[in-house]
Amino acid sequence: MDSFKKMSKIVFLVLIFQGIFGFIFYISLKNNKTNIYKPILPITINKMKSNRSALTILVWTWPFDIHLPLMKCSRFLRDSSCIFTDDRNLYSSADAVILHHREVYKSKHLLPQLPRPSEQYWIWFNMESPQNSPNLQLMDNLINLTMTYKVDSDIFTPYGFLKQRTETDPFTVPIKTKLVAWVISNWKANNYRIQYYNELKKYINIDLYGKYHTELPSGKHNKIISMYKFYMAFENSVHQDYITEKLWNNAFMSMAVPIVMGPPRSNYERFIPSNSFIHVNDFSTPKELADYLYKLDQDDNKYQQYFKWRSKYQPIVNTDFFKLYCNVCKALKNAPARRFITSISDWYK
Ligand SMILES: *[C@@H]1O[C@H](CO)[C@@H](O)[C@H](O)[C@H]1NC(C)=O
Ligand SMILES: *[C@@H]1O[C@H](CO)[C@@H](O)[C@H](O)[C@H]1NC(C)=O
Repeated sequence: MDSFKKMSKIVFLVLIFQGIFGFIFYISLKNNKTNIYKPILPITINKMKSNRSALTILVWTWPFDIHLPLMKCSRFLRDSSCIFTDDRNLYSSADAVILHHREVYKSKHLLPQLPRPSEQYWIWFNMESPQNSPNLQLMDNLINLTMTYKVDSDIFTPYGFLKQRTETDPFTVPIKTKLVAWVISNWKANNYRIQYYNELKKYINIDLYGKYHTELPSGKHNKIISMYKFYMAFENSVHQDYITEKLWNNAFMSMAVPIVMGPPRSNYERFIPSNSFIHVNDFSTPKELADYLYKLDQDDNKYQQYFKWRSKYQPIVNTDFFKLYCNVCKALKNAPARRFITSISDWYK
């Protein structure tokens, strides 16, 4: 009798515990499902190194031959401990050298030729997709830090990011008088996005802007796009994390709801809330997408849902190379003590 009582007590306790844990498990499953958005901010650098003082950063080439006013970095950063220079005579004493892929990829002879100081970092900077970055193998076994749009870069430089919005800074959705816009200059008829467009335009009217279409007057870009409900933010090639100014500037800054084509939806959702965009993969055919756009056009309540996230976050365009370069100063102070990347080509593709 006694042991029976003991047994039933144990069984009772086990049942209670199971109940409690089951409930906790259920709650955690439920929470996982809601998938709460958290923004990823740029310039994160992993693994700290002890602080270094006055650093000389050599800009090996000016990206696209645009000379950046880097003397102003100390003011921008409120930190005067980095000296930026483009004087190659300072190579041997430089703490870091920034190599922008586009100006050096053609030949090893375009890279520094003098013996390399063992403490010096070579930073590889590139914002182009792997498809548009030729001769990546040239960089194998040379680079210490990466600086790209890929989220696992040492110095993460996305095309844009979301910042927490302050309450004193409200937003209004502009009045929409038009439906779908697309700015496209790189027109290649066999590209998948053009083929998709050719199909989509059979079902919905799309206004084209850019080189072979209606030219946008300079400075009026965002203003004109902002009259549209939707903007086609179609990337020219599909790569992990490759989400460019087509989304950040053309769509988000113009307050047009982006219709995206690029990496899968889950990749976009690492950077932006799930209800901030429409993904072409959400539809099995372009016609289905067109039907959905018409539906949103008819139902303003539903359309406005695509702006809800804006009460909490604000998009910031990050394509100003001046700021990206200045931030190398911050990043270097926290750079890992010693490292190099065996194969840039494997990592990037
Ligand atoms: C970093 O710098 C600060 C101020 O110069 C100094 O107080 C601190 O000890 C330094 N830390 C290391 C790990 O060198
Ligand atoms: C940078 O990379 C080079 C070549 O891969 C290597 O020899 C050097 O030790 C690295 N330097 C640092 C500071 O990590």
